[in-house]
Amino acid sequence: MNSISNLTKTSVEKPQAVLEIWGRTSLKGKVQISGAKNSALVLMAGTIMCPGKCILRNVPNLVDIKRMGQILTSLGVKLKQDGDVLEIDAQEIIPAEAPYDVVSQLRASFFVIGPLLTRLGTARVPLPGGCAIGARPVDLHVRGLQSMGANVSIEDGVVHANLVGSKRRLQGASIYLDYPSVGATETILMAATLAEGITKIENAAQEPEIVDLANFCNQMGAKISGAGTNTITIQGVTELYPLDYNVIPDRIEAGTFLVAGAITHSEITLTSIIPEHLAPVIAKLKEIGCQVLVEDEIGKTFGGNIKSKCLRLIPGELHGTDIETLPYPGFPTDMQAQFTALLSISKGNSVISETVFENRLRHVAELQRMGTNIRVKGHHAIVQGVSFISGAPVMATDLRASAALVIAGLAAEGKTTVHGLHHLDRGYENLEDKLRSLGAKLERVIPAS
Ligand code: UD1
Repeated sequence: MNSISNLTKTSVEKPQAVLEIWGRTSLKGKVQISGAKNSALVLMAGTIMCPGKCILRNVPNLVDIKRMGQILTSLGVKLKQDGDVLEIDAQEIIPAEAPYDVVSQLRASFFVIGPLLTRLGTARVPLPGGCAIGARPVDLHVRGLQSMGANVSIEDGVVHANLVGSKRRLQGASIYLDYPSVGATETILMAATLAEGITKIENAAQEPEIVDLANFCNQMGAKISGAGTNTITIQGVTELYPLDYNVIPDRIEAGTFLVAGAITHSEITLTSIIPEHLAPVIAKLKEIGCQVLVEDEIGKTFGGNIKSKCLRLIPGELHGTDIETLPYPGFPTDMQAQFTALLSISKGNSVISETVFENRLRHVAELQRMGTNIRVKGHHAIVQGVSFISGAPVMATDLRASAALVIAGLAAEGKTTVHGLHHLDRGYENLEDKLRSLGAKLERVIPAS
């Protein structure tokens, strides 16, 4: 419950911008997909391992990226941004504590712990924040670092990690993850890169962002094999070198646009895509009734040799289906909210099961305000497709939920007003401009107080 002082504070704060969407307009045309937020964030942290100037390209312009920039700056790193190019100079870094006010808003900020520990032998990082979609502990990260010989303790909400005794490097270890956590795999992979000896991560996460991180580290001189499978082997090296690297395209942004096309029955084309990263999303779109065609393009190259492609969405009559979120290559939890919106106006019944995070169905209550017929039972959303939804004022509850509400707004009759846009701004680069360029009618406005 809000305290009276909080209520008073809220009532005098200036009104926050909202997004007004006038739905039932078809979309048409091409949209370019930006670099992957989740990859760019971990690669930014990874540059700390290299005492030199690294260049990251295809970095999306997002609030989360700015926050990670602030964390790096607080650690002595120098950053320069020019469009989607980020120059990161980690020649000199200092053993400071990452600032709580930023870490509390960005779970990915915890990624600096491995690189700091391996470079300085010590790290202090507050327990992270981010989207309120579940408890999201860091026990697997901590246990991994401990297996490699680090002394890790949590004091007053801050994780302290240090090398023990006379050891100057972390020690290679065999680590089995109880769950294929993306973040824990990334923390251990980076920590192991400069460790002494061989580290083996079993039951590792297999997400494309893990492969991107391994490619990035290997191009800096690391010796990592098996990324993209459930067993990753890292032969520790003593030095890493600066590099110039292209961040992979954002598969979640791409998936979000595909769902926007499907829900508005629109033929749209996405450029700068790695289609394999979207395999589970494309498979579900096909089951629902759409076609997705892969086409060549003269695009960019990622991870050394992967050429980007175009994806053309050809809409069809929408039918319900069941979805269960799982670690990659299963269906991504980060696409669950958007598909919930899509299935809510697809013919027939659907069951959506969220197995990755325990509190990630809060968008359902907002979708219900628009006339959908969805019931939540435990971690399942039971959807009975309706033929029509109507615009309403709705509140974004987390990043991907905000995208789901925008998508529902595109399909709804009348005006939808999405509140809580700070979530959207964390993870979608120029979403409004991109949707407008496809013909959507939407506008960000400050409501009259
Ligand atoms: C990353 C992504 C996020 C995505 C998620 C799953 C980034 C910045 N974020 O988050 O967008 O939704 O992967 O694909 O890359 N867990 C533990 N202990 C741990 C770590 C995780 O119990 O030490 C649990 C979490 O609470 C969650 C599950 O494991 O229930 C999956 O989390 P994880 O894969 O670690 O996700 P993140 O790295 O936080």
